[in-house]
Amino acid sequence: MTNRNQRIESIAAQATEWRRELHRHPQTVFEETFASDFICSKLTEWGIPHERGIATTGVVATIEGRRNHSGRTIAFRADIDALDVIEQTGQPWASLTPGKMHACGHDGHTATLLTLAKYLNDTRNFDGLIRLIFQPGEEAGKGAHQMLREGLLERFPFDEIYGYHNWPTLPRGTFAIKPGPMLASVDVFQIRLHGKGGHAAMPHATLDVIPAAAQLVLALQTLVSRETDPMANAVLSVTNLTAGTGAANVIPGLATLTGTVRTFNKDVRDHLQSRMASMVKSIGIMFRLTAEFDYTRLIDPVINHAQETEYCREAAAAIVGPDKVESMEPIMGGEDFGGFLEQRPGAFIVIGQGEADPASPHNRGLHNPGYDFNDAILPTAASYFAELAERRLAID
Ligand code: NI
Repeated sequence: MTNRNQRIESIAAQATEWRRELHRHPQTVFEETFASDFICSKLTEWGIPHERGIATTGVVATIEGRRNHSGRTIAFRADIDALDVIEQTGQPWASLTPGKMHACGHDGHTATLLTLAKYLNDTRNFDGLIRLIFQPGEEAGKGAHQMLREGLLERFPFDEIYGYHNWPTLPRGTFAIKPGPMLASVDVFQIRLHGKGGHAAMPHATLDVIPAAAQLVLALQTLVSRETDPMANAVLSVTNLTAGTGAANVIPGLATLTGTVRTFNKDVRDHLQSRMASMVKSIGIMFRLTAEFDYTRLIDPVINHAQETEYCREAAAAIVGPDKVESMEPIMGGEDFGGFLEQRPGAFIVIGQGEADPASPHNRGLHNPGYDFNDAILPTAASYFAELAERRLAID
């Protein structure tokens, strides 16, 4: 244990430099060539077999244990992509690409998995295989599904999968997890109402989209308030409503509404999508407009498997003590890790990175331009994964 801690601490000291180098070179959805090259150069340096080009920039590495009699394989996943955010951290390792930023700490998740790779490859104190999955395109909710579509499970089979996200609102070194629904599904929609524009003084000669759009926004709100079980959780937010050019005397011919739908429940998700479609169609008929409705299911909910959640709790408790492993409240944010959990048992955990100083960049919210990953959690996160790996593939 102490031996392992020392090893991981010493790798993590270098991993801080890797994390900062990744931070300097952020790239977004399926364009993460810098991260991909960086990961592969480290894996090659350490002689770890890997394949790249899965979902464009994804990388999968495989490490064989000192023994391989169990026939079992455990996977760990890190996301590698950044965001379209203008960085304002002022850190010496701030983004060198204007308008792109690692504002969600995926640079830290990648550095964690590299730390784990080096440690596992040096020690191999397990019976079976470990897969390390470096996944692109998490922020668009596309990367996990794309890796699965490109045959991840067939080409690199595994029995269980685990991942983590850094969490600014939890104190550094505190873990939180729960069985069942933890993060919501994320869907987006766009509605277009086409009418006929004209003079505001002669509405009878137009097909006005404004009253229709207004009624539709209010009608959509009833899908959660009146049609969803109050004990279920759902959000339907219209986040953009666009019509008109700014002129007070012109009735516009087009209104556009966009927004997001979130829930943990498959039946609720199906119901909201189908009822939205019928409301949009009905509003079109009611106001003699042409109504178009696009609905995209971006991210599946993260639903942790009960038994695997327990394994995570035990491994985390072994690293930081049971009093620092909390029960997570479900939140309406999303993570495309849920796509893996639909296919294989596993669980997702969050690891606190908050500091006592409230002005610390590590306490800023995810996606905030002032946010920075806390390098101090690299050894904690890597030790947790190592503990989980060595428990799930114990030699004896
Ligand atoms: Ni993230």
